[in-house]
Amino acid sequence: MCGIVGYVGNKNSVPILLDGLKKLEYRGYDSAGLAVPGNGMVEIVKEVGNLSHLEDAVSNNRINGNLGIGHTRWATHGRPTQANAHPHNDCKNKISVVHNGIIENFIELKEALIGRGHTFHSETDTEVIPHLIEECYDGDLFEAVQSAIKDLEGSFAIAVICQDNPDLIVVARKDSPLIIGIGDREYFVASDIPAVLNYTKDIFILQDCEMAKITSKGISITTFEGEEVNKDIFKVKWDDEAAEKGGYEDFMLKEIYEQPKAIRETLRDKFGKDGEIIFEEVPFGKEKACELNKVVIIACGTSYHAGLVGKQAIEQWAKVPVEVDISSEFRYSNPILNENDLVITITQSGETADTLAGVREAKNRGATVIGVTNVLGSTITREADGMIYTHAGPEIGVAATKTLVSQMAVLYVFALYLAKCRGTLSDEEIAAIACDIQKLPDQVEEILSANGKIKDVANKYANCADFLYLGRGIGLPVALEGALKLKEISYIHAEGYAAGEMKHGPIALLDEGVPVVAIATKSKVHEKILGNIQEVRARGADVIAVSTFGDKEIEKVADHTFYVTETMETLSAILAVIPLQLLAYYMAKARGCNVDQPRNLAKSVTVE
Ligand code: M6R
Repeated sequence: MCGIVGYVGNKNSVPILLDGLKKLEYRGYDSAGLAVPGNGMVEIVKEVGNLSHLEDAVSNNRINGNLGIGHTRWATHGRPTQANAHPHNDCKNKISVVHNGIIENFIELKEALIGRGHTFHSETDTEVIPHLIEECYDGDLFEAVQSAIKDLEGSFAIAVICQDNPDLIVVARKDSPLIIGIGDREYFVASDIPAVLNYTKDIFILQDCEMAKITSKGISITTFEGEEVNKDIFKVKWDDEAAEKGGYEDFMLKEIYEQPKAIRETLRDKFGKDGEIIFEEVPFGKEKACELNKVVIIACGTSYHAGLVGKQAIEQWAKVPVEVDISSEFRYSNPILNENDLVITITQSGETADTLAGVREAKNRGATVIGVTNVLGSTITREADGMIYTHAGPEIGVAATKTLVSQMAVLYVFALYLAKCRGTLSDEEIAAIACDIQKLPDQVEEILSANGKIKDVANKYANCADFLYLGRGIGLPVALEGALKLKEISYIHAEGYAAGEMKHGPIALLDEGVPVVAIATKSKVHEKILGNIQEVRARGADVIAVSTFGDKEIEKVADHTFYVTETMETLSAILAVIPLQLLAYYMAKARGCNVDQPRNLAKSVTVE
């Protein structure tokens, strides 16, 4: 949802800004731009399209300087045109701003500014910011920014520079992420940590309503009201390679293959030596677990599908009723919650606007909120009452893969934890399930190394216009996720559906041209799904099945089968989803799609 970068130091800022933007391209790639103080005015280069267009433009332009800001855009207000690309300037082209977020009151601000003689060149909400700063500026950029942001409603992370002071960046954040990397007499500003990892692992994480004055000589951080803030340095543990492709063609493929490691790392701090289950940052012990009335899980997209899997584990093991809701629906649903309810909110980025709004709604109603995220220091970590971290490492591909399986893994363990607190499973049962959970990384590895024919199947069906994904029980969230993956990266229409519901409508869609992907892993509804597959075949549709190694029945009814390792039914979701990620990946590649940067999407959706 837009990425911003900044650099101040003693090096040429341009290659550093471009490198940072490359790492942030997952946040948006409709246009990109840079601003560097130059000859009498701030010089700007901006181009429509992904970063490669900006790189070409920069190589034909002698723009350079020891300070600069940059932006990669996911369009919200105004189409992806050059005029709408950031940075945006004031009337005199002295002050330049990059912005991530949405200024909700920009229309009234813009009308007032125009009334006072300002000229606008774009349709963006952002452009009001440099003009407001211009009005407040009398030689002190920090003070001007501090005054101007008082008028802004909505969310913003901004970096501001001014021609008059080519050694100063002013940054401010409210409801949009911003970090500052600390180098040797140099500083790096970015929306997210991977953008600075090539240069430093020492980070300041700016919190809401904080701003900073950054020069090559030092940094001072204050609240919007000017109160000094002393911050601890956050030491990043990822290595630089975590944010690189590492020999893979795309981030998505790399991240699919990183899944065994992601699950292993995620589980590492959740199990103690004697089989103890550890959630260090969860304020939810035996007493609260026993009083628990219900659990509500809220999330969006792929994280919502992880929630559907979590529901089955919690209900089955901890015997608590669980509702799963899409965050954007939940927040306006007038939810019935009280202090005996637990809300689990799942967001890999920790920044999804609808999910954060849902959290505030749940807290207002007295529920305890536990967040599940992959990003330390993200907004959810400050808003939730307790946190569960996945340790999947940075996920750059827009399509969530390794964060999904890590979310499923922690939900399995948390379900077990609740069961232990509530006494709904015996110690032996808990130990057996824990043992199976810890086998999952090796089992995912096994599935990944036996995926040979998925590419051929993908090539065969890559030109089909529609797909139906069917599942029952634990297979249903897998079907939904398989369909979402295919849609978002290959632009093929795909529907995920409960297999038993098919005869109530979607069966009308079927003919020889609509392949059906059926999740048919070993389960109590295996016979039922085999019956559904027969119904599909009777309508002429080809069937691609996901089943368990050794299933002989499936071979009689499916045209193609991808096998996964046998595990207990509830855990099978984490395994069955792997072939579907690869199927979507290879299908998208066969169609020539950019899998890491699917059209119209962004990795973190920080707008409503
Ligand atoms: O960061 P979050 O987990 O809150 O993101 C939620 C969705 O935006 C995300 O899962 C989206 O659906 C992915 N692109 C799916 O691959």
